[in-house]
Order: sequence, then structure tokens, then C-alpha cells
Amino acid sequence: MKKEKIILTGDRPTGKLHIGHYVGSLRRRVELQNSGLYDKIFVFEADGQALTDNIDNPEKVRQNVIEVALDYLSVGLDPAKSTIFIQSQIPELCELTFYYMDLVTVSRLQRNPTVKTEIQMRNFETSIPVGFFTYPISQAADITAFKATTVPVGEDQEPMIEQTREIVRRFNHIYGETLIEPEILLPDNAACLRLPGTDGKAKMSKSLGNCIYLSDSADEVAKKVKSMYTDPTHIKVSDPGKLEGNCVFTYLDAFCRPEHFDRYLPEYASLDELKAHYTRGGLGDMKVKKFLAAVMQEELEPIRERRKVFEKDIPAVYDMLKKGCEVAREAAAQTLDEVRRAMKINYFDDAALIEEQAKRFAEQ
Ligand code: TRP
Repeated sequence: MKKEKIILTGDRPTGKLHIGHYVGSLRRRVELQNSGLYDKIFVFEADGQALTDNIDNPEKVRQNVIEVALDYLSVGLDPAKSTIFIQSQIPELCELTFYYMDLVTVSRLQRNPTVKTEIQMRNFETSIPVGFFTYPISQAADITAFKATTVPVGEDQEPMIEQTREIVRRFNHIYGETLIEPEILLPDNAACLRLPGTDGKAKMSKSLGNCIYLSDSADEVAKKVKSMYTDPTHIKVSDPGKLEGNCVFTYLDAFCRPEHFDRYLPEYASLDELKAHYTRGGLGDMKVKKFLAAVMQEELEPIRERRKVFEKDIPAVYDMLKKGCEVAREAAAQTLDEVRRAMKINYFDDAALIEEQAKRFAEQ
């Protein structure tokens, strides 16, 4: 049988999704979904993982589950093509995690650079919740339960995919070929790998207040672009400007397409030309920001419009999620069956085992 091509990816529902999520992953997912190259696509909300560092704030996760579902639908994820589901509704994932825990050492988990940074950011150093510390293992369960071959995610998820691959190899080595080793699919554009915040800080994050959300209104987006961080030494229009660390240009790298120049800035032929003028001096920040605002409105407007439509029928969105969970659960249960068989813990569905044991005791 030809190996199926299966995509799985997800997000923690701890906030509304922003344009960093969009260029880093969501936009690509929709392209992959519509490419027809994949046999199955699973997109899920990792609410269980979100709870690992929000255990005293379940309401936050509950509120954001619907926000993220609306974000998914509004960017063009289509439940007819992609199974959209919620992690906590698939108990099979917990069982897989439980078995995988024995395939990973504490010191291996301690080396995970993403988890290390997160522990620092949350001031968890002296009181790390065990569930948080072990979430890379549960993430391996998420990925392998659906036999994912391809995991489109941002760069920060690389250690999780590597951990998953190690678990798969170790499992298959001990118990025989059972699990599928996934590949990571990173954004192909450096600006999309890690979109900075509007303040120029390395990452867009809700707590820093430097995000542009997919659900922001046109006015909010315009205002945020206007106040974006550029080059603090570029004071007069005639001053030469720097591109490094100048997030207006990073955003253009992520969003701008050649045809945008025709539409909104016809005096330039390309982004390279615009950059050259800025570096040379003589191009003001306001003009570049206006262009960026126009480019972003063009991309975000259809997303906002679709969101408004889905917001009108919230029960239908929950219904869609519920159906997705049913489909996902079936797929995960199938894998779990195979895992239990491989691990020899399928006592009751193995007639040969019972017979063999009966015989052994009869001969005594
Ligand atoms: N850790 C991911 C994030 O923070 C979310 C996630 C959980 C995930 N399980 C996954 C992503 C499995 C891809 C595959 O965004």
C-alpha cells in the first residue's frame, strides 16, 4: 500500500490568532489543504497543552477555543477538506502519552530549547508543572496518533518534532514497525519564520501587546501599522535608513507580492527597489507604512469578512468541531489499537494468547 500523506498541526487556544500565526503557519496550511497533494489533513486546538501552563485559568482556554475555531474558518480552513478538532476530546492521546513517557528520559526533556525558554518566560524555574515539562511527549502522541507524515509549524516547534521522531524510532525499535516518523515543514521565507512584534521585539506575543490579530478591525490594523517600530536613527526623510530590525520591511517581506506595487505604489517596481531607496535615504517611513497598511488590508479584509459570517452561527461552529472530534477519535483509536497490539497489552482481543495460556497451564 502506498504510504498516505497526512498533515497534522495545531495551536494552543490561549489567545486569538495573530498575523505571526498567519504567515508562520495558517496561510501555508490553507495552501496545503487546497493543493490536493495530501490524503488527510488534521488541524486541532491543543487545549490540553494550553492547560499545562494555565491550569488555574480554564475559562481563558474555554473562551479561546471558539476564537481560534473562528480564526481557522476565517483564513479558509474548510471542514469539508480538513478535520478540525479539539485535543481534550480525544482521550486516546492521553493513553499514548502514558506509554511514550517511558521512552524518554528526564534529561532529554531538560535539553528541549523551546521548553527551556518557556520555563524562563513563565518564571517556572522552581515550580515546573510536570505536565508542562512533559508536553513534548504529549505532542508526540498528537502527531503519531494521526500517522502524520508532515507537520507544518513554526521554527520554535522544531525540538518537538525531533523529540517525536526519537520516540517513533525508539518505539519501532522495541515493538516493531508501528508508528510513522513525521517531517517538519517550515515556512520557506525567513520573515515568516518568526514575524517580530509591531514594537520590533523578537516575537509577537499577547503579553507584550505587540500583536496584530486576524480579528482586528481595519482601523485597528491601520493604527498599529502607523505606530510600528522602524529605524530609530532614520529621523529626516533624507537620512539613510536601516532594514535590519526594521519591522515594517520584515512585514513587507512576509506580505508583499509584486502585484501590490502596481496597485498601491506604482512608482516602484519591486520590494528590492523600495528597500534600496530607503537605505540610500530620501524615502520616509510614513510612505512605506502606508504601503504596508494597504498590502495588509488587502490580505486581511477577506479574512475579516468570512469571520463575520461564521460569527453569526456559533452553534454551527461548535457542531463542526464536534463532528471533527468524532472523525479524529476514530483515527486515533485505530492507532492506539495497533500500539496496544505491538506492546502486547491487547489481552482480550487475542484469542491465540488465551488459548496458549490455557494450554500452558493445562500441561502443568
Ligand atoms: N506546541 C504547539 C504550539 O504551541 C501546538 C501543538 C500541540 C502542536 N501539539 C501539536 C503543533 C502537534 C503541531 C503538532 O503552537
